[in-house]
Amino acid sequence: MILVTGATGNLGKATINSLLTKGIPANHIAALVRDESKSAELKSKGIQVRIGDYQNFESLKSAFQDVDKLLLISSSSEISYRFEQHKNVINAARETGVSHIIYTSFDMKNLQQSIMGEEVRYHADTADYLKQIAIPYTLMDNTMYADMIPFLSGKDILINGISIPGGDGKTPFLPITEMAEANAVVLTSSGHENKEYVIAAETAFSFADIADLLSDITGKTIAYYQPEVGSYVAQLVQDGFPEDDAAYLARFAEAIARGEFDTNRSDVKQLLGRSPKSLKDFLRSIYDSKKLT
Ligand SMILES: NC(=O)c1ccc[n+]([C@@H]2O[C@H](COP(=O)([O-])OP(=O)(O)OC[C@H]3O[C@@H](n4cnc5c(N)ncnc54)[C@H](OP(=O)(O)O)[C@@H]3O)[C@@H](O)[C@H]2O)c1
Repeated sequence: MILVTGATGNLGKATINSLLTKGIPANHIAALVRDESKSAELKSKGIQVRIGDYQNFESLKSAFQDVDKLLLISSSSEISYRFEQHKNVINAARETGVSHIIYTSFDMKNLQQSIMGEEVRYHADTADYLKQIAIPYTLMDNTMYADMIPFLSGKDILINGISIPGGDGKTPFLPITEMAEANAVVLTSSGHENKEYVIAAETAFSFADIADLLSDITGKTIAYYQPEVGSYVAQLVQDGFPEDDAAYLARFAEAIARGEFDTNRSDVKQLLGRSPKSLKDFLRSIYDSKKLT
C-alpha cells in the first residue's frame, strides 16, 4: 500500500493523479487527510482515505497501518510546528513498519544559511532526522513551483508587467505536475532507497527571462519592474494577500534575487525518462488564452 500525505493539497492531489495514470489501482493508494469533509473527491476515485493530523501522533499510527511506502509532503502549518510534525510522521511510520519514506524537501544552495532562515531550515532538519532513522528514505529536493510565478509577479502581468524585487537571480522553476510525476516514479519503482534527487528544471530563468518568454508568447512587450521590498509587500497586500503571506513571498523574492535557487542540478530527466515540460510551455498554458487589453 502506498500512502500520500497532504492529499488535499496541490502536490498531494497531483501525485495521486500521477499514480492513477501509471495504472496503480485506486485501492492500493491511501491518502492522509486531516479534515474528512475534504475527502469526497478522493473517495469518489476509490482512494482509501485515512484520517490523521501531523500534530497527532496516535492518529498517524492508526492511519499508517499496512502502509509500505509513504510520501511525506512537507507541512503547510505554521513554520515553527513543521519539524515536530514531520518527526511525528517519521516516528509513526517507523512504529507501524513502513518500509520506505519519501520526503518532499527543498532545493536551495544552502538550506542552513539561506536568507529565509527557519522558513526553510526545517527541511534540512527533517532530512537529517530521516537519515538517522533506520528506514530507507528518499529525498525529493523540490525547487520553486512554476505555479508560484503568477503569485510572485504581481497582478495582471500581461497589462502591468512583472513586478518583483527578483534582481537577476535565476530559478529552475518546475510545474507541480512534473514534481508529482517524479514522486509517482519513486513510489512505484525500485532502486531509490537512500538517494537524494533534485527536482528542478534543466534551465534556470530570471524574471527578466520570464518577461521575455511572455513577450514572445503574447506578442506584446511585457516589462520587468523591480520595486523595493517594502513597496513589493505593499503591492501584494493591495492585491489581496494577508500581510504575513506578503512578507513571506517577499523573502522568497529576496532569496531568488540572491540566486539561492540556482543550484544547476536536476535529476528529473533521469526519473521521468524525458525532459520536463519547458517553462515556456507552462507559461503558455496559463497566459496564452487570456485576453490582452
Ligand atoms: N516548492 C515550492 O515552491 C513550494 C511552495 C509552497 C509550499 N511548498 C511546500 O510544499 C508543500 C506542498 O505544497 P502544496 O502546494 O501541495 O501545499 P498545499 O496545497 O497548501 O497542501 C498542503 C497539504 O498539507 C496538509 N497539511 C498541512 N498541515 C497538516 C497537518 N497538521 N496534518 C496533516 N496534513 C496537513 C494540508 O491539509 P489541509 O487541506 O487540511 O490544509 C494539505 O493537504 C507545502 O505544504 C509546503 O511545505 C513548496
